[in-house]
Amino acid sequence: MEKTRIERAIEYITKLFQGNGDGHDPSHSLRVYKNAMSIAKAEGRGEEEIIALSALLHDCDDHKLFHTENNANARRFLEQEKLSAEVIEEICKNINSVSFSKNRGKTPETIEGKIVQDADRLEAIGAVGIARCFQFGGSHGRSLENSIEHFYDKLLLISKELNTPSARKMAEKRDKLMQDFLKEWGEEMN
Ligand code: ADP
Ligand code: NI
Repeated sequence: MEKTRIERAIEYITKLFQGNGDGHDPSHSLRVYKNAMSIAKAEGRGEEEIIALSALLHDCDDHKLFHTENNANARRFLEQEKLSAEVIEEICKNINSVSFSKNRGKTPETIEGKIVQDADRLEAIGAVGIARCFQFGGSHGRSLENSIEHFYDKLLLISKELNTPSARKMAEKRDKLMQDFLKEWGEEMN
């Protein structure tokens, strides 16, 4: 049976991120996709295929990982799929509006962009967020203490910056876990 476009996108990103150990392995993009679909369902908004492809491809041209220009990795897949120029631009625009560091304080214009941004931000908090923070820190030669600072610089601020009510609801438990973790960390350090 012929694969679906989503299955082909999953294959594409699996190859692209294979062996990446800085918090951007293939499973990160897959979880962003799954988070995004859950948020979209709960919100009852957004075009499904645009959300799915924007989520799966959201880190394909991240400047920390790839030296591409003009979303070249995402475009390669979307062009192979023979999507219209208009749809390709829309997806690239969503992808470019998602990054936290590039867009501090800015909100994506489309509901699809807002949902994917929330889905990616959920990945930085909770149990997965804690794990990714130390994985990223370790792969950049940072100490545990240094990675703990990142909680105060970014991770604890995320739940207040989410776009959709459904993602805010999903963030509550994750936030509580990080608070408990930091409390325990403080106790063990003293
Ligand atoms: P994404 O590409 O998923 O939006 P980032 O590339 O910003 O996320 O970061 C990947 C993961 O690494 C995130 O979970 C983030 O919290 C963590 N991270 C980013 N910068 C630092 C840092 N300076 N120290 C520790 N962890 C970091
Ligand atoms: Ni990401």
